[in-house]
This record gives sequence, structure tokens and C-alpha cells, in this order.
Amino acid sequence: MVTAVNDYIFSHDFMSDPYTYFAQLRENDPVHWNEKYQLWLVTRHEDLLWLPRHPELFSSVVFKNDPRPPYPAIDESDMGVYEFIKDFFSKWMIQHDRPKHQQTRGVVHAYFNPKSQESWRPLVQHAIKGLLDDVEDQGSMDLMRDFATPLPVLVIAQMMGMPFEDRKFIRSMAEKLLLIGRSDLDRMRPSAEGIQELLDYVTPLVEDRLVNPGDDLLTILANGEKTGEMTREEVVANAVLILFAGHETTINLICNGTLALGNHLDQWDLLRQDPAGKMKSTIEECLRYDSPVKSL
Ligand code: HEM
Repeated sequence: MVTAVNDYIFSHDFMSDPYTYFAQLRENDPVHWNEKYQLWLVTRHEDLLWLPRHPELFSSVVFKNDPRPPYPAIDESDMGVYEFIKDFFSKWMIQHDRPKHQQTRGVVHAYFNPKSQESWRPLVQHAIKGLLDDVEDQGSMDLMRDFATPLPVLVIAQMMGMPFEDRKFIRSMAEKLLLIGRSDLDRMRPSAEGIQELLDYVTPLVEDRLVNPGDDLLTILANGEKTGEMTREEVVANAVLILFAGHETTINLICNGTLALGNHLDQWDLLRQDPAGKMKSTIEECLRYDSPVKSL
């Protein structure tokens, strides 16, 4: 069915309210061909459960296999830089199908279990208290700057066993890498710069873990090279992936969730009356209501 939908999914209007558009698509054209960017948009829940279970039809090997130029368009002169970026992203575990995906994912699989994650609770609680104490006397805070950004960066840096003092540097490199998802014509160079800086930062740390193993996530990744499940380049690229995936998403969850609660004070009051009982469902609902990751 052909519908008059807005295909400019990188425009300011779209970004500031994607849900009106998603709802319109789901209602009128749930498997929509976006003419502007030449891609399919699939919006129905049951389709989205089915789709990733059919990698033979819907491959995750996008950066390596898609021969088309990037979208939105970039400066023609930056195509060489784009090749470098493609090469880097194609080593991420999320850019593979089975069996390669299972093999690379298997390196960290055991680490991400409820028991091991639970052991991080005291550190996270301590970090939350410290960040709130820091701003208490001010009587106000910039949620993103003072809380939502430093908290997950601290946690993931600690999990990876990266020096405490490198947190701001890690975030500044990640911010450059993130430009890849924007629409600016000249976004490739700063994004590639962020990637190169992250590679230069992580590579010596991986080399160190290969000879001096620790009890951190970076050591687990480095072991993937020892067991032959990953190459050195894959270890480094996936260390960058986890460093980045482990904080950017959580920043968005905290900020979008707090904004949603601020806009729905009745829900905020319900949470305040019963934080222990309602926190889990509140977080689940924040993930659903204004998701930190809006497309794959
Ligand atoms: C609110 C928080 C988070 C959200 C919304 C989120 C979302 C996602 C999504 C949508 C994917 C699939 C990506 C794809 O296949 O293209 C993914 C994969 C992944 N995420 Fe997260 N994530 C969050 C937090 C984290 C954290 C804290 C870590 C690490 C400590 C992490 C590590 C990973 C890893 C390793 C993968 C790849 C898994 C695989 O390929 O099997 N994520 N995440």
C-alpha cells in the first residue's frame, strides 16, 4: 500500500517526534519502502520478533556487504574515510550472522549473566550516591552532564578494567564516533578520528592483558584471541563496541526515562510511593516508551 509518509527520517522534525511517524507506518504501511534512503522500515512487533530469527533473509552483515554509498549522503571526497569506517564496524560482533556471530559472542557470553551483573550493584549504588552528593549543595543539576553520562562511563570503564582517570577521554572519543549516525555531510572525518583514537587507546591495553591477565572484561575479550575465536583486530574492535555500547545506551535510558517521568507526574508519584515495588516495571516501561535505541 502506498502512503504519503515522511521519508526524511534524519530531519529535525522526525528526530524530535519519531513516534508519530512510527505509529502512522505501523497503522498504514507496516513494511514500508523508504524511497529517500532506499531501505525497508519494519514496524510491527510480531514482524520484529520474526525477522532477526531469519538471518538467511535478513543479514546483520551490513557494513561489509552493502555496496551502496552511505546514507544520508557524505562529501564525495570522504569515500576513502568511509571505507576505513566500514572496515572497523564490520569487525563488531553485531555485524555478523551465525555461526560467526555465535563464535565471537561466545567469548563474552558467560560474563553477561545475572549473577555476575548483580555483583556490580554495590559499585553502581556507591557511584550514584557520590554523583548526587556532588550536586546536592547546588540544589539543581544538569541531568545529562552531572549524572546520566558520568555514571555509565564509570561503570563500563571499571568493568573493562580501564584506568579511572580515562573516563572523560573515553566519552569524548565516543562522542566523535557517534557522529556516524547523524546527517551532516562532513561527519565521516571526525567520526573516523574518534574511531582511530579509540583504537590507539584500546590496542596497548589489550596487548597488556594478553601478557598480564586480570579479572576484567578486557581480559575476557583478549582471551578470545588466545583461544582462536577472535583475531587481534576483532578483540580490539569489540572492546571498543562494548566500551561504547555499555554507556551510550544507558545515558539515553536515564535521560529519556527521566524526561518521560517529568512529563507524566502521576507516574512519577506512583514510583515515589513504592520505589522498591515499581522500579523494575518503570525501567521496562522507559525502555519501551522512549527507547534508547530507536532503530536497527
Ligand atoms: C539501556 C541499556 C542498553 C540498551 C538499550 C542496549 C541495547 C542493545 C541492542 C539494541 C543491541 C543489539 C544491537 C545489534 O544487534 O545491532 C545490543 C547488543 C549488545 N549490547 Fe547492549 N544495550 C544496553 C546496555 C548494554 C551494556 C551496559 C552493555 C555492556 C556492559 C551492553 C553490551 C552489549 C553487547 C556486548 C551486545 C552484542 C550482543 C550480541 O551481538 O549478541 N549493552 N544492546
